[in-house]
Amino acid sequence: MELLVLPVVVLLASCALSLDNGLMRTPPMGWLAWERFRCNIDCATDPKNCISERLFMDMADRLAEDGWKELGYQYVNIDDCWAAKERDSQGQLVADPHRFPSGIKALAQYVHSKGLKLGIYADLGKFTCGGYPGTTLDEVDLDARTFASWGVDMLKLDGCYSNSSVKAVGYPLMSKALNATGRPIAFSCSWPAYEGGLPPQVNYTLLGEICNLWRNYADINDSWESVRGIINWYGEHQDVLQPAAGPGRWNDPDMLIIGNFGLSKEQSKTQMALWAILAAPLFMSNDLRTISRSDAYILQNKLLIKISQDPLGIQGRMILKGKNGIQVWMRVLSSSTMAFAFFSQRTDMPYHYTTSLAQLNVTAPKVFSAQDVYSGLALHGLEFDTKFTVTINPSGVVMLYVYPGEQLKLNRKPKAYPLLL
Ligand SMILES: *[C@@H]1O[C@H](CO)[C@@H](O)[C@H](O)[C@H]1NC(C)=O
Ligand SMILES: *[C@@H]1O[C@H](CO)[C@@H](O)[C@H](O)[C@H]1NC(C)=O
Ligand SMILES: *[C@@H]1O[C@H](CO)[C@@H](O)[C@H](O)[C@H]1NC(C)=O
Ligand SMILES: *[C@@H]1O[C@H](CO)[C@@H](O)[C@H](O)[C@H]1NC(C)=O
Repeated sequence: MELLVLPVVVLLASCALSLDNGLMRTPPMGWLAWERFRCNIDCATDPKNCISERLFMDMADRLAEDGWKELGYQYVNIDDCWAAKERDSQGQLVADPHRFPSGIKALAQYVHSKGLKLGIYADLGKFTCGGYPGTTLDEVDLDARTFASWGVDMLKLDGCYSNSSVKAVGYPLMSKALNATGRPIAFSCSWPAYEGGLPPQVNYTLLGEICNLWRNYADINDSWESVRGIINWYGEHQDVLQPAAGPGRWNDPDMLIIGNFGLSKEQSKTQMALWAILAAPLFMSNDLRTISRSDAYILQNKLLIKISQDPLGIQGRMILKGKNGIQVWMRVLSSSTMAFAFFSQRTDMPYHYTTSLAQLNVTAPKVFSAQDVYSGLALHGLEFDTKFTVTINPSGVVMLYVYPGEQLKLNRKPKAYPLLL
């Protein structure tokens, strides 16, 4: 037996309080500029890809017209480098007049006219990470009111150019300031990522009370190494992270980079599957104008999105970690259903992994059915101790949606799990 069975510590979310703005009862979905478009402000030579109102209007059009919105992808989010280098004469933040000639309020109206929501970015410090005007403690109220007056629906508050004591005061202050505007504005806090992401520096109870989501760990980059590092960090620290999540308060392992350049097809499927297991926000950072059909197909997988958006909002856990390079992740879902992701960090060849629900700690002695989330293949009449085999490609996943299946009343014995296509 080369598998190490990890203790299943807390499967049910604790009843901790969450930020009381009624928003994001399931993990938010949408699009965020940063990973793909960074701080590209060179509109003279790269007008289609620079940070400008055109980019966000293009993405809003794609979200609205290409089937994304109906699936739940509703936020269009600005990141750093949108602002002018100076505040205006009243001390207000203003958008760069060349790149956002219509202003953020007009952009919000445009996005709203498409049935979508607009997110914006600020930084609790002297400057943003990209060197644009930051939000000092004295400016928290003003900036919250400015964003509300523009009709913004979400704020990501970064933490460059400040220190721990400023953050400890400023993040709760901004949460209050957003509430005081009277406009429901979802609040994304980068705070824990600057404090190492773990107690005692990070208080997840407090975060759940003041933020809707928070970044715990390093920025994602366009590489498998980066995605793998994030998954492993989440697995390693799940006893701290998993109970922190719940409706209205989510751990954010950062953007989906599917559709860019760094991930293979298998790795793209892995990121999407693990982000759904982790109850993670699904903010794509890619170019929806040019995305391939096969990448869009992964991001638009309905069963996967249903798993991500499960109303119980319980974050999944790594339940097995084998010396063979296989991890098994599981998320408890509503209506006695559950999702498993069998994830291979092997680098040799497709791996045949044989298991049973009993070995996966599913204790109810019922008959279940399972559906492969990506291939659609189904396995009926799965009893507690029925052995089945999944074939996991290197750096890939097999993801199963498992549901009680007594009603199927199949007489035949289940076949071995078919090889994946
Ligand atoms: C502000 O907070 C109160 C109490 O926590 C809550 O009832 C209300 O909905 C919040 N308003 C907004 C706009 O977030
Ligand atoms: C943190 O930054 C604030 C504002 O710049 C400054 O007043 C304070 O002394 C700093 N605290 C520490 C511990 O460096
Ligand atoms: C964490 O925050 C909560 C809620 O604000 C508070 O009650 C608790 O004392 C804090 N825990 C620590 C260890 O500071
Ligand atoms: C992404 O790259 C940055 C800069 O090289 C690095 O600091 C960060 O740790 C990387 N992120 C991950 C998740 O590996």
